[in-house]
Amino acid sequence: MSQPMIDVQSLTAVYGSTQALKGVNLKVEKGEIFGLLGPNGAGKTTLLAVVEGLHKPKDGMVHIGGIDVQANSTATKRQLGIQLQKTALMDDMTVAELVEVYAALYEVYLTSGQIAKLLARFDLVEKRNTLARRLSGGQQQRLALAVAIANDPQIVLLDEPTSALDPHARRAVWDIVRQLHDEGRTIVLTTHAMEEAEALCGRIAIIDRGEIVACDSPSALIANLQLNSMLKATVELPLDQVRLLPSVSNARYTGQHLEMETAKPELTLTALHELATSAGRSVRDVMLRQPNLEDVFLKLTGRALSESN
Ligand SMILES: Nc1ncnc2c1ncn2[C@@H]1O[C@H](COP(=O)(O)OP(=O)(O)OP(=O)(O)O)[C@@H](O)[C@H]1O
Ligand SMILES: [Mg+2]
Repeated sequence: MSQPMIDVQSLTAVYGSTQALKGVNLKVEKGEIFGLLGPNGAGKTTLLAVVEGLHKPKDGMVHIGGIDVQANSTATKRQLGIQLQKTALMDDMTVAELVEVYAALYEVYLTSGQIAKLLARFDLVEKRNTLARRLSGGQQQRLALAVAIANDPQIVLLDEPTSALDPHARRAVWDIVRQLHDEGRTIVLTTHAMEEAEALCGRIAIIDRGEIVACDSPSALIANLQLNSMLKATVELPLDQVRLLPSVSNARYTGQHLEMETAKPELTLTALHELATSAGRSVRDVMLRQPNLEDVFLKLTGRALSESN
């Protein structure tokens, strides 16, 4: 197997007495879109900061393209494009100036033609002479992405690239991430949003309280836990009878809707119809929901993804 793009081994990181990372192992291969999914305080930003060479780990190793980050952070940083969770883009610089300055930090000196091309990709040409602080939230996020790839990096690390964006702006960022991936770059992004992780990432590490609790493709994470599907219907029936239907492992009412966890939804649905018919009732609004990453997270950690710790 070829060398991983990012290789994290037994990584421990602390802030004073807070253990932010507790022995993390992770490999990201060339050309992946890799997601770090976890609640507030899980350690996502810390993990990226160590990979970026911005936070010194207490223990463990990180290699980028085979090079030790601790021993040679200048060489490894050159391969990285970084979008920090809190991007403090210097307010009193224009869009074009910021892109130029950030590239120069990596000793990449862009011509005005190259700057124009980069800004065009992110739909910021008209804003090139606008001060960064006058941009909208979505425009600032796009500028942060433009800045992240100003040095034409092989690896792009994005810390919550779509937080606080409306659905339209969020999708625009997803398109950009997919384009960067199509160009052969390796992408690592963090998110709280399972639909984002499912939409973008080939593989995901679920991180909770400084530990990786699972790492696989979204579909394998869901399949491996053998979570049941959720069958929903509108029908009034006694719950104790519903719970006895074939394959039902749990049942409850939410409002008028009956929700049943079942490993064999077709079997359950047929039996539900029979039960309803014998009680003189009809079954309406039948819906089947497949288990998703939120269910995986709940099963693995005992908490919902949206809860912080
Ligand atoms: N500069 C710091 N000083 C002290 N503690 C910190 C610092 N940065 C992070 N921590 C602590 O380290 C832990 C991990 O934080 P981190 O920022 O890596 O989480 P995160 O997964 O990125 O969370 P979020 O989703 O909120 O961005 C938390 O307990 C946090 O309080
Ligand atoms: Mg963070």
